[in-house]
Amino acid sequence: MIGAGYVGLVQAVGLASLGHQVVVGEADADRVRKLSSGHVPFEEPGVSDLLERGLRDGCLRFTTDNREAVSGAEVVFIALPTPEADDGRADLSIVDAVVAEIGSSLEPEVVLVFKSTVPVGTTDRVQQEFDAVGATVRVASNPEFLAEGTALDDFLNPSRIVIGARSMATVEMLTSVYEGIEAPHVVTDPVSAEMVKYSSNAYLATRVTFANAIANLCEAVGADVEDVLLGMGHDGRIGHHFMRPGPGFGGSCFPKDTKALTMIARAAGYPFSLLEGVIEVNQAQHRVVVDKVRSAVGGVLQGKRVAVLGLTYKAGTADLRGSPSLEVIRLLQEEGADVAAFDPAVAEAVPGITTVFTALDAVRDADVMVITTDWDEFRHLDMRAVRAAMSGTAVVDGRNLLEPATVRAAGLHYQGIGR
Ligand code: UDX
Repeated sequence: MIGAGYVGLVQAVGLASLGHQVVVGEADADRVRKLSSGHVPFEEPGVSDLLERGLRDGCLRFTTDNREAVSGAEVVFIALPTPEADDGRADLSIVDAVVAEIGSSLEPEVVLVFKSTVPVGTTDRVQQEFDAVGATVRVASNPEFLAEGTALDDFLNPSRIVIGARSMATVEMLTSVYEGIEAPHVVTDPVSAEMVKYSSNAYLATRVTFANAIANLCEAVGADVEDVLLGMGHDGRIGHHFMRPGPGFGGSCFPKDTKALTMIARAAGYPFSLLEGVIEVNQAQHRVVVDKVRSAVGGVLQGKRVAVLGLTYKAGTADLRGSPSLEVIRLLQEEGADVAAFDPAVAEAVPGITTVFTALDAVRDADVMVITTDWDEFRHLDMRAVRAAMSGTAVVDGRNLLEPATVRAAGLHYQGIGR
């Protein structure tokens, strides 16, 4: 496994638990030291236990030397970051540099697998590069679908295993790697496998954005989006999942992958205007929350105390990457608001943001309380205590977590998204 980030580490401990010998190459020496002594650098249920077990049983080890990691390996997974470049494309420089680094240390006939999301065409392009120098490496695509907070479960009980390869021998090798895991296998060519990953994320991001757009429209026409989504969701073709309105989707995948797919589409001569619209509507959704906060405090944010509950991009993770909450805070601060934020998973300081240790600390003397992350504990806030601590009475529930009647009964003014 090359890369001990989110995708690589979860995959590594998961593969070790299936009985494979796993060696992980990771450039960050500090991370290698910590992992080698059983310390997981992020919160993710179950990963720590499997890491300890793998280390103890001797089937898992970490090294800063990628060449050593791949030496003797029958299968090499690439789980490296593909950050967003300035133009929105995925930046492949890390992947390309590592492939060049390990190339000469790979065993004959090794299966080299792209696990992290790479632009459509990357697998075949790298295959051609190996072919051109006469290497017998077989390059394949096997995209990862894990979501933070349920990552290990997503590995052990996946909805599907997608294998994109150009030879049956490669498919058989990858199939054997996942022996013991029950899931439908989708076997296809590498380009299609790469498209499965982007299309899945684009579709889910579109669903969330559709729900947000319907919420905004519900508000404009005087409907309650929660009832509307309930009424829609009973249709088996639609379902209730992944349609919760909020401040817009975020995280390390959706924003990056949707943008990358629009770039891939443009380069391929098919401008994906639907998805471009989704990205635009999603960015506007941050402003929907800010507009509500502004109007809740009388039209001017300058000098207003705003309590923001939630910093992470969703509940169940400490990850701040691509968090709509941070964008909402930035916009509030830009208009002169004085923000105090609380998040149950974020203990350390966040640059440019005043963070406090409890929700009640955040709302103390606040003119308005805003919920931006769907943490369960915010559902159970004592609204009377909130009312007593605040100087104002406005609540903007950016995740529709609270019961409007309970909030109003405490003497507060409630504003949700589309209700
Ligand atoms: C996602 C995909 O689910 C996963 O398959 C892929 O491999 C990586 O990207 P993740 O980013 O961890 O996983 O989070 P996810 O739970 O999908 O949520 C993404 C964003 O959408 C979050 O900001 C979340 O709050 C938002 N969201 C999700 C909503 O606003 N409403 C919903 O109904 C669902």
